[in-house]
Amino acid sequence: MSYNIRTLAARSCYDVVDQGMSLSEVLPKAQALLDNPLDKALLQEICFGVMRFLPQLEAVCNQLMSKPLVKQLRPLQFLLYVGIYQLKFMRIPDHAAISETVDAARELKGQSLTKLINGVLRNVQRQPALFDFDNAPAAVQFNHPGWLITELQQAYPQQWQQILAANQQKAPLWLRVNVAKINPTDYAAALTRDGIEYSRPIADLPAAIKLMQAHDVTTLPGYDAGWFSVQDGAAQYAATLLQVDSSQSVLDACCAPGGKTCHILELAPQADVTAVDKEPKRLLRVHENLNRLGLTANVIAADASEPDSWWQGQLFDRILLDVPCSASGVIRRHPDIRWLRKKADIAALASLQQHILQQCWALLAPGGTLLYATCSVLPQENSDQISYFLQQNNDAKLDILPQQLAEQPYGWQLLPGEQDMDGFFYARLLKTDLNSISPK
Ligand SMILES: C[S@@+](CC[C@H](N)C(=O)[O-])C[C@H]1O[C@@H](n2cnc3c(N)ncnc32)[C@H](O)[C@@H]1O
Repeated sequence: MSYNIRTLAARSCYDVVDQGMSLSEVLPKAQALLDNPLDKALLQEICFGVMRFLPQLEAVCNQLMSKPLVKQLRPLQFLLYVGIYQLKFMRIPDHAAISETVDAARELKGQSLTKLINGVLRNVQRQPALFDFDNAPAAVQFNHPGWLITELQQAYPQQWQQILAANQQKAPLWLRVNVAKINPTDYAAALTRDGIEYSRPIADLPAAIKLMQAHDVTTLPGYDAGWFSVQDGAAQYAATLLQVDSSQSVLDACCAPGGKTCHILELAPQADVTAVDKEPKRLLRVHENLNRLGLTANVIAADASEPDSWWQGQLFDRILLDVPCSASGVIRRHPDIRWLRKKADIAALASLQQHILQQCWALLAPGGTLLYATCSVLPQENSDQISYFLQQNNDAKLDILPQQLAEQPYGWQLLPGEQDMDGFFYARLLKTDLNSISPK
């Protein structure tokens, strides 16, 4: 059976926006129905595009229709966005975009709406001014939910527009060379031999390679041999900033899918690494990654905030806390996040993060280091957490990172798009031995 890509795109976008499912859950299932890799890529491009421009696509429909389609016709409303997105933002010939979209309407049981859909698309074709949003509300102008724009405006009065613009960009493909297997310079030479263009732009991340084009990573040199992993440059700072050596015991408390666990082991192959995650399903990916890269860790399915249920009683020298977060720093990679997250989620996440931090702090040896990390740009999850934690724990000291700017007293905040990396936050905390401090 052959599937219409526009039908799959409309259904996928409906599942995300109206049903609250994530695109990373929905899209692979829809792609599995297509055989041709180019069709899979086209489906992704359309779904990502609709997520990136949803408010403007809605606004255009509102100008051309008396009211949006509701109830069982909702997938057809998303089909309109799919059609408009192709006409406005893709290099598909208009006649093909329109006829494929109208065909998809029939598949979505919208036989009676084909005339309407055709009419809306023809109007979009004829009236470029429909996309004039200079005086529209911020949510439409910038294609983000209003609450998130407000948060960013408050946190970054100078940079909020730059952040929103970076979220609209397509993310590049970053690789992390597995230094336990191959020298990054030799790996770069292997890429050159295969005619693959790349750059190595970050001086303090010698194993980070940015590819200039998208690639099927399984076809890159050394995929099966475990020569590299896919990991954004910003995420590659975690293992580096944790400063692990092979004699140490390490806890990676929120480890799945294991990108940072593997990086820690690549840098310190003999380190005794315990990798914990609450989601057993996600731990399957950790095992896959460890196996492919030829690394070993003690992997445990457990709640990091309840150590009594899994902790063996040995304090750790190093702890990485890559806590669950809003993912507001990786919107360019996951454009659906802006529609799935709600304002109320932030306070709930912040409270969970503080709880995990406090519980895991007790597992750190005096003299040890804990690295707190999020892929968020919201201060409530980042600098505010560290500031509060330092007030509550007099055995905690903030170790200022060389990358931290003067105006960042509580950790290093990378904004999305900086050096073409994701948005990330890092704070390095040192545990002092209170018993060794003599009273005055
Ligand atoms: C940001 S992701 C971690 C990414 C991972 N460090 C990597 O680099 O591949 C956060 C992880 O925290 C896990 N998680 C959420 N709550 C947790 C808890 N209470 N205890 C342990 N893991 C938790 C989630 O299942 C998710 O896999």
